[in-house]
Amino acid sequence: EKGGYPHFMLKEIFEQPRSIYDSMRGRLDASTGRLTLGGLIEYQNRLANADRIIMVACGTSWHAGLVAEYIFEELARIPVEVEYASEFRYRNPIIRENDIVIAISQSGETADTIAAVQIAKAKGALILGVCNVVGSTIARMTHAGAYTHAGPEIGVASTKAFTAQLTVLTMMALFTAHKKGTISEARFRQLLVGLETLPQKVEETLERVHEPIKKIAALFKDARNFLYLGRGCNFPVALEGALKLKEISYIHAEGYPAAEMKHGPIALIDNQMPVVFIALQDSSYEKIISNIQEVKARNGRVIAIVNEGDEVVKNMAEFVIEIPKTEEILSPILSVLPLQLLAYHIAVLRGCDVDQPRNLAKSVTVE
Ligand code: F6R
Repeated sequence: EKGGYPHFMLKEIFEQPRSIYDSMRGRLDASTGRLTLGGLIEYQNRLANADRIIMVACGTSWHAGLVAEYIFEELARIPVEVEYASEFRYRNPIIRENDIVIAISQSGETADTIAAVQIAKAKGALILGVCNVVGSTIARMTHAGAYTHAGPEIGVASTKAFTAQLTVLTMMALFTAHKKGTISEARFRQLLVGLETLPQKVEETLERVHEPIKKIAALFKDARNFLYLGRGCNFPVALEGALKLKEISYIHAEGYPAAEMKHGPIALIDNQMPVVFIALQDSSYEKIISNIQEVKARNGRVIAIVNEGDEVVKNMAEFVIEIPKTEEILSPILSVLPLQLLAYHIAVLRGCDVDQPRNLAKSVTVE
C-alpha cells in the first residue's frame, strides 16, 4: 500500500509528478491553447466580473490560498483576501453581491471551513470549492468547483494535495484572466506551457534535491529552532515549510516574509539558527540577497533554495539546493518540494511518527 516507501508521506511526495499531471488532465492543452474547467464554465463570466475574491481555508490549504492571492491579482487583477476559516466565521464578514468565495480543503470535511461556507452562502455569495475528496461535505455544499484530483492523501502532513491545489488555483486564475482579457494571448499560451511542463520539472527536482536534503537533515536534526524566509509568492512557501517541520518533527519553526525579519525575528539569529531562504532568480532576487547578507552578518546558518546555475547565492550560503527555473508564479510548486523532504528526513532521523504525528488528525472535523 505504501508502494515500497517506508511512509505514506514519502510516497505522496514522490507521487507529485503524477498528481500534478492528474490535476491538469483533460483540462489543459498547451498545443491548442485550450483550458477548460468543466464545473466552472457557467461561472466564467461571474469570475471575470468579480469585484473581489475571498479564499477561506485552514492550515496548508490556507497557504495555497495565499499563493493564489498573488496569482489571481497578477493575472486577473481582482483583489483577493485570504482568510482563516476559523476567523472569518466568527467575524460577521462583509460579503457583497459581486464577491466570490473560494473554499480550499483537501478533505472537504474541515469543520471551520464548512462553517465559513455556510455563512458565506447565507449571505448570498457564490461559493466555489477546491477540494480533493470527491463528494465530500464542502464539495457538496459549494455551488461549483474544481477538484484537485491528487488521489487519496493518507499522510497527515499535506504534500501532494498542496501542489495540486496550487495547480488548480493557477488554472482558475488563468481561466478568469483569459475571459477578462487581463493577459495577452501570448502570455496565456506561455503559462499553459509552463503548467504543462511542471510534472517533468517536479520529477527532476525531487531527483536532484533528495540526496543533498538528506545531508542537510542529518546536520540540522538537533536544531531547536528553524526560520524560513521568502518573498512574493514564495513567502507562503516559507510558511508551509515551517508548518511541515513543526507538525512532523516537533521542532519550533517560523515562516516570515524575508523583509519582516528586521522588524523582530532578526533578534533570534545567532550561530545556532538555521535559516532557510527561498532565493530564486525572480522579481525578489536582489532583495532576498540583501536579506541573506543580514542573516550572515549575524552568523545565522543559511540554507538557500536557488535556481540551477545560481552563482551569487551559492557564494553566500552555507548550503544551496538547486531547483529548475520556471515561471515565477509557478515556482512555489517546485520550491516547496525540498522543504517537504527536509521536514520528512528530519522527522525520521528524530524517530518521529511521520504519518501520524502526535496530537494531529488528518481532518479536523471539530472546531
Ligand atoms: C498540514 C495539514 C493541515 C491541513 C488543515 C486543512 O499539513 O495537513 O494544516 O492542511 O487541517 O485541512 P483540509 O485541507 O482538509 O481542509
